[in-house]
Amino acid sequence: MSQLLYEGKAKKMFTTDDPNVLRVEYKNDATAFNGQKKASFEGKGRLNNAICTKIFKMLQQKNVPTHYIETISETEQLVKAVSIVPIEVVVRNVVAGSLSKRLGVDEGVTLGRTIVEFYYKSDELGDPMINSDHALAMELATKEELGEIRKLALTVNDALQAFFSEAGILLVDFKLEFGKLKATDEIVLADEISPDSCRLWDKETHEKLDKDVFRRNIADLPETYEKLLKRLEDVK
Ligand code: TMP
Repeated sequence: MSQLLYEGKAKKMFTTDDPNVLRVEYKNDATAFNGQKKASFEGKGRLNNAICTKIFKMLQQKNVPTHYIETISETEQLVKAVSIVPIEVVVRNVVAGSLSKRLGVDEGVTLGRTIVEFYYKSDELGDPMINSDHALAMELATKEELGEIRKLALTVNDALQAFFSEAGILLVDFKLEFGKLKATDEIVLADEISPDSCRLWDKETHEKLDKDVFRRNIADLPETYEKLLKRLEDVK
């Protein structure tokens, strides 16, 4: 028996016979600006599933704890059941997007040090930015959990930078979500890492290979994601 547990903007989560395992289905839908802009693209679910699978496997090889178990079809993965920590973690290496607007610094400026930002995961509030004091006062996570989340986010950044660099791609910024394993409360990387949740630019030309092509009407989304997947094919 499999029941729909939750439907998000880009994925559906289903139960499986094992209470510790969920099935994720990647949808063809794309949204931006907290769901205000919407479209559906044939092939998007397959492309994000393939790209995310490659990234989770690479992270597992580097001993990063993730919810990923296996990919079972073109659009589906099995993952460990977690309770999601309601904090979206954004890691930035290069100025872009909301950081550029907030601080008045041009997109493309390389940051002197990596920035880790926290956002309170709440669609109603539009995911407001918070700091660790807010997270602790709101009891979104404990101090130890926040420390672990920050450490893991920076480890993932190192691994992703090296991975994308081999494909001639600059990792500008990305968003992560973490969960606590039902059985042990261990913090693991959850959700997805895909061009929906990263900014990826060609190192030389700064051509965008991520969802900004849809947010900003720059290029065709499936063609862009296909191009990205092709470039990642040869990376170990
Ligand atoms: P931002 O510059 O709009 O704050 O986005 C930073 C990074 O986080 C960028 O790679 C896109 C990603 N992101 C998401 O995955 N989900 C979101 O809801 C938002 C706002 C950004």
